[in-house]
Amino acid sequence: MVDKQVGWGAEHADVLVLGIETSCDETAASVVKGGRMILSNVIASQVELHRLYGGVVPEIASRKHIELIMPVIDLALKKAKIKPTDLDCIAVTYGPGLVGALLVGLSSAKAMALALGCPLIGINHIEGHIYANVLEHKDVEPPLVCLTVSGGHTDLLYIDAYGDYKILGRTRDDAAGEAFDKIARVLGLDYPGGPEIAKQALSGDPKAIDFPRGLIHEDTYDFSFSGLKTAAINHVHNLQQKGETLPISDIAASLQAAIVDVLVHKTLAAASAYKVDTILLSGGVGANEALRDQLRQDAQALGINLYYPSKVLCTDNGAMIACAGHYRFLKGQQSPWDLNAAPQLRLGDPV
Ligand code: KG4
Ligand code: ZN
Repeated sequence: MVDKQVGWGAEHADVLVLGIETSCDETAASVVKGGRMILSNVIASQVELHRLYGGVVPEIASRKHIELIMPVIDLALKKAKIKPTDLDCIAVTYGPGLVGALLVGLSSAKAMALALGCPLIGINHIEGHIYANVLEHKDVEPPLVCLTVSGGHTDLLYIDAYGDYKILGRTRDDAAGEAFDKIARVLGLDYPGGPEIAKQALSGDPKAIDFPRGLIHEDTYDFSFSGLKTAAINHVHNLQQKGETLPISDIAASLQAAIVDVLVHKTLAAASAYKVDTILLSGGVGANEALRDQLRQDAQALGINLYYPSKVLCTDNGAMIACAGHYRFLKGQQSPWDLNAAPQLRLGDPV
């Protein structure tokens, strides 16, 4: 029985979906009921392990996923208080991401789906991030503009209807999260750099250093963060060569302001051009308070509603994958058994 029609597809209150996510350094599994009720959301983070190397080491990530995947799935089912046979389908990230990491989740999902005789649904990780908003905000309706900012992606999208993604702009080089992470490393801050920069920025002056805002005045929705990265690294090296103490909080605040300015400027320009009254923010960098605040303020001034997921659903998790899987399941979509990992998968590529 279909309960309700929403812009994202139909809901069905009883459908139970297991969502599996292993595209990077989080081994995650979640059971979601009816598309929006999170019964469990288990996330085993490998951050402490990769921190030793200043970033994600793909080989180590794959090996850790293989250790963690079954215990994480088992715990997700136990916390949801359901049996594997209760599941209606299994949704799994099949790209983009690290190939070895993706293969662990994908193989586990295939084995379970085959054993249970239920459908396997491959999900694009970026679509998953977008669905973190659908999961939490019942009133979100297309048409809208969505900014997805993570460690690997900076995509500005126009979404006219469910599943219909028009890519307005992308980063031409580094992703926003990657810029945070790389510059944090030069500053001697821990991985992942985004939250560390945000913490340091709280006591810094965002106007202390005038870092470049790549492409901000260009007639494009594309982004570029490589100039900012070079400027920040040069700034740090110059100070180090002069033997000066690094004003870490000022650098962090100025860097964060430069990234936020560009993201907010392009997003609002797109929202105005496409005349939408809704903006979605998603992805790990969407957890950034300065970005949320500036986007909210500037959107409000234009009468535009802004939605973003709670922090735990901004970064990688299985619930967003389960939610995206729910709507594909109700549309009767199913992936073939030979579905492969797609490390370079883009939004809009055929499933
Ligand atoms: O979505 P996500 O968990 O993984 C990818 O799909 O890449 O995003 C991780 C990225 C990292 O670059 C991390 O530094 C960044 O999100 N991030 C943040 C914050 N929390 C996570 N960046 C800025 N401020 C934050 N509070
Ligand atoms: Zn992600």
